Amino acid sequence: ERQEARPYNRQRLLVVANRLPVSAVRRGEDSWSLEISAGGLVSALLGVKEFEARWIGWAGVNVPDEVGQKALSKALAEKRCIPVFLDEEIVHQYYNGYCNNILWPLFHYLGLPQEDRLATTRSFQSQFAAYKKANQMFADVVNEHYEEGDVVWCHDYHLMFLPKCLKEYNSKMKVGWFLHTPFPSSEIHRTLPSRSELLRSVLAADLVGFHTYDYARHFVSACTRILGLEGTPEGVEDQGRLTRVAAFPIGIDSERFIRALEVPEVIQHMKELKERFAGRKVMLGVDRLDMIKGIPQKILAFEKFLEENANWRDKVVLLQIAVPTRTDVPEYQKLTSQVHEIVGRINGRFGTLTAVPIHHLDRSLDFYALCALYAVTDVALVTSLRDGMNLVSYEFVACQEAKKGVLILSEVMIPTLHLSAAQSLGAGAILVNPWNITEVASSIEQALNMPPEEREKRHRHNFHHVKTHTAQEWAETFVSELNDTVIEAQLRISK
Ligand code: G6P
Repeated sequence: ERQEARPYNRQRLLVVANRLPVSAVRRGEDSWSLEISAGGLVSALLGVKEFEARWIGWAGVNVPDEVGQKALSKALAEKRCIPVFLDEEIVHQYYNGYCNNILWPLFHYLGLPQEDRLATTRSFQSQFAAYKKANQMFADVVNEHYEEGDVVWCHDYHLMFLPKCLKEYNSKMKVGWFLHTPFPSSEIHRTLPSRSELLRSVLAADLVGFHTYDYARHFVSACTRILGLEGTPEGVEDQGRLTRVAAFPIGIDSERFIRALEVPEVIQHMKELKERFAGRKVMLGVDRLDMIKGIPQKILAFEKFLEENANWRDKVVLLQIAVPTRTDVPEYQKLTSQVHEIVGRINGRFGTLTAVPIHHLDRSLDFYALCALYAVTDVALVTSLRDGMNLVSYEFVACQEAKKGVLILSEVMIPTLHLSAAQSLGAGAILVNPWNITEVASSIEQALNMPPEEREKRHRHNFHHVKTHTAQEWAETFVSELNDTVIEAQLRISK
């Protein structure tokens, strides 16, 4: 039956990620309403015609009862999604604990939370056990839905244990794993008590992908230094078996943003924003409220700019959209209060009876409102302290064909500074060290005063880059590389 539903030449792709691309709200005992959240990954895979993608992941809600689980599974099936049900205790230990309180800060070089260091160390074993258990639960669901010939693509730091669980079920399964965060230097990775087990589990995959060459290189050196395995130009070798390791930089579905600017609702939003901020230059930050995004540092740099440039005080506004995230994790709660405190202080210091310099919103915007905001912005600030591949910079550029605004970009996203980063947004953006508040402040001044010809030139470079490095191309490249890797491995064995 399943065979018939599938066009003969389309390969099935099982995308496994911690979170499904839907938000589910319970309406009754057996009824759910679902909303697709069209993030980068979703639109990338929807755009790939050769594959028929299905998603496996956590629906983000606790559903303890069987009636609710059945109803949700049914509703999700229509969206080609398959849920993994995690209970509250597992979510607490695996998602809040091991994933977001240990792996996330470590992979972004933030170390463990200071005050909680000892407590975290003590709960480490139980959190790691929950992590493995959760990964096994994902594997069980994948195995249940797997058909011969499918490609299984596992995503991110939540699921590092998954490739091993899947290969234990079926050594012939084609398994790829992709990390959306940085992979840190082996010196950082080696501080993890579970360092070896995690590396070995990832190595069970056929293809392991990262956003940049540097992250791939860090991973290979962690395998050579910590596990004593052999690193080759292709990847990592263990007793004749090769795990291919490579870089696949993601992009966005730029056409989706470009098209949105023609929609009447977006045009109307833009008109309102222009009226609202008439006479002022608009600066924009869009981030999840996460310590890696450098929001306090960015706002302090803006304060310094206002301090030193009195003439700009009533002529510029900073709109900071800070999307709440992982709100059960104490570090994130602390960050929220810290940001509110700084914003309040600066608005008190430089605000007037009729205007404040910073508009800070603790919420997300819908897609059309976001596109309108990108389009009316004069200067975007993407100043993460560390980031896997920040796509806000891409989205901003895609919406700037008319305005040709300036992008201030954290240099951590540009691995090889001395090559002037021609292959990235580095050549079109003003690059800054996000920790250097003086430098960021003067880059704001440079951006606001930039002559139109220079803005045009920089924008041309960025726009070309964003249009040619799409999410769709990224997904296609990864999956065809995975198929090739498996074929090559079979050939090697049969020789
Ligand atoms: C990062 C991770 C994603 C994650 C997203 C949102 O981009 O790489 O895997 O889904 O943050 O975080 P959340 O914890 O809300 O899923």
